Amino acid sequence: MFVKIKGTGSCLPEKVLDNAAISRLVDTNDEWIQSRTGIKSRHIVGKETAVSMAAVAAEKALEDAGITAEELDLLIVSSVSSEQLLPCTACSVQKELGAVNAAAFDLNAACSGFIVAYQMAAGQIKAGLSKKALLIGVECLSNIVNWKDRGTCILFGDGAGAAVISAEEEGNIEIPSVLHSDGSRGEVLTCKNPTGERKDGSLEGYVAMDGREIYKFAVRQVPAVIDEILEKAEKSVEEIDLFVLHQANGRIVEAIAKRLKQPIEKFPMDMMQNGNMSSASIPVLLDELKQEGKLQPGMKIIVAGFGAGLTWGGMYLEW
Ligand code: ACO
Repeated sequence: MFVKIKGTGSCLPEKVLDNAAISRLVDTNDEWIQSRTGIKSRHIVGKETAVSMAAVAAEKALEDAGITAEELDLLIVSSVSSEQLLPCTACSVQKELGAVNAAAFDLNAACSGFIVAYQMAAGQIKAGLSKKALLIGVECLSNIVNWKDRGTCILFGDGAGAAVISAEEEGNIEIPSVLHSDGSRGEVLTCKNPTGERKDGSLEGYVAMDGREIYKFAVRQVPAVIDEILEKAEKSVEEIDLFVLHQANGRIVEAIAKRLKQPIEKFPMDMMQNGNMSSASIPVLLDELKQEGKLQPGMKIIVAGFGAGLTWGGMYLEW
């Protein structure tokens, strides 16, 4: 059985927070943020929720795929920042969509979440246990960011991206894909569940990060994982048309392109206007590329994510 992305969709909150607005909250400035991260602005939830954004992105992906919610048999949501733990976000999205025949659950693999969701669903399809799956990455990171910590609050944005994948007669036979985790290095990016009232200024309950370690991890592991995928796919790096990477920051993507000795034009980026949306970043970028006509049938693509856990991985797709 083969697997193919049949449709994509996305939803970004209405409210935009640019670097000038952030510099009124913490001691920073547009020049520092842009030169270190490439980010100019990001969307931040107002009235939107993880469930509402996920449902909108999902409806668009279903329409794009030309299938109904009732046809779905699997619905996976990846999120680390949904407002709700119970019921899981996926079940609430199921209710919104009327996806009554889908098994629904959440997963947490941080910025690698969409990659993990894709590989879990593709595995179910290959095993004959699923035919049509909806994958959603959704984040309300503005809810778990400490708006007094200039080292982290400048980086993140909110949003949702969705993709419908289905069992097809033609597609990638082996789904060349790779997943890795290293819990021993988990302390470099954390967010503890707040056990009591949040103490003003403390990092409890908020994202805490060792930025330099994350940078080194990404720049080392992502090219290595891309090499692994290329070997499995039996492709050379030159044959790849696009590298759709997690949008953590521009400097990381540029360093990865340099290590792979590939032109930066093969590495589309949207963190400039969306910030880092963790598990939503890859499906939102895929949807934007599709809307812009930059994903054409037959294109060879590598998608790769990396993030807290630590987790990282990716896969080769023929569009
Ligand atoms: N504005 C102005 N100055 C700042 C800011 C800010 N927002 N943040 C930190 N600084 C200051 C620091 O206080 C420090 O000042 P000092 O020298 O007087 O002590 C100086 O800038 C340098 O700080 P560093 O943290 O060493 O800055 P660095 O050059 O490493 O850049 C950054 C920080 C952008 C976070 C970088 O480490 C990075 O890109 N890391 C990757 C992290 C990342 O992308 N995380 C995303 C989440 S994880 C994921 O998605 C996988």
